[in-house]
Amino acid sequence: MAVITGKAPGKIILFGEHAVVYGQPAIAIPVAKVKATARVFPDIESKPGRISLQALDIGLDTHLSDLSPEHPLAAAVYLTLETLQLEHIPSFVLQISSTIPIAAGMGSGAAISVAIIRGVSAFLGRPLPDSKVSELSYEVEKIHHGNPSGIDNNVISYGKPVYFKREQPIQFLKVKKETHWLIADSGVKTPTLETVSDLGKLHAGNPQYYDGIFHKIGLITQKARQALIEGDNPVLGGLLNENHALLRELDVSSPELDRLTRAALDAGAKGAKLSGGGRGGNMIALVSATKIDAIKKALYEAGAVNVISTKLAKESQA
Ligand code: PMV
Repeated sequence: MAVITGKAPGKIILFGEHAVVYGQPAIAIPVAKVKATARVFPDIESKPGRISLQALDIGLDTHLSDLSPEHPLAAAVYLTLETLQLEHIPSFVLQISSTIPIAAGMGSGAAISVAIIRGVSAFLGRPLPDSKVSELSYEVEKIHHGNPSGIDNNVISYGKPVYFKREQPIQFLKVKKETHWLIADSGVKTPTLETVSDLGKLHAGNPQYYDGIFHKIGLITQKARQALIEGDNPVLGGLLNENHALLRELDVSSPELDRLTRAALDAGAKGAKLSGGGRGGNMIALVSATKIDAIKKALYEAGAVNVISTKLAKESQA
């Protein structure tokens, strides 16, 4: 048996984070420049069923049986094995690595689960379809996040731009015109679980006020869907700025994220906002192709620790 590799991209949320947890729509796109990889290869020296896990980036080198079933890496393996229901499981080594920044709003947890589920199911001769990969990685997301909306596992499993609403069939977006985006890391690590749970408490204390903000964000996301398909940069830019202002009202921004969005706009970005859980992690800016270098420079000068440029490519209409 050869080495089998399972891969998954990172992602950014363009519109609707947090509101999506409360039933509003959100838009996310995959980011192929960063990825999680799971390499699976046979372990011919061990007795059958022995599964070794190595994630050397985080200093993990162990056996599946030594990890709690609740451990996110172990959970992804167990869920895959339960789904496949194989009588015989050969021994194998699972090596996990990722270039997706952790706790930065780029979906690193979901991408690692997706890569594991893909790699292990393919290694065992039964590669699972994207829909099943998404479903299983959502189960793992629940361990990471408590109350995940499901957007991360969907955009990462399918690797396509999505318009996502809880409990509704996923819609894939096919854009008519390409758009360019910069993703700047504030360098502050904030687990999504923390911001989602803080906001949960605020919402419980004043549901009417917070539902009002979520509703406004939902309307922005609906408008953004069409503007993104049409590649209407002036409209998209304005909507990004409005969404960021509402995220500030939800108290999920931070001085660093506000400084980076300001710097991007001052350097000529069409719009900018925080992306993902917030308080730290990444912000995004919509930019014209000719201004990418200048805005990147401005973001570094304003304190970004890393800036990635990505393009949402044009796709023919279905
Ligand atoms: O921080 P990220 O990229 O995992 O994004 C979280 C998005 C939230 O809307 C805040 C949570 C969710 O489950 O949708």
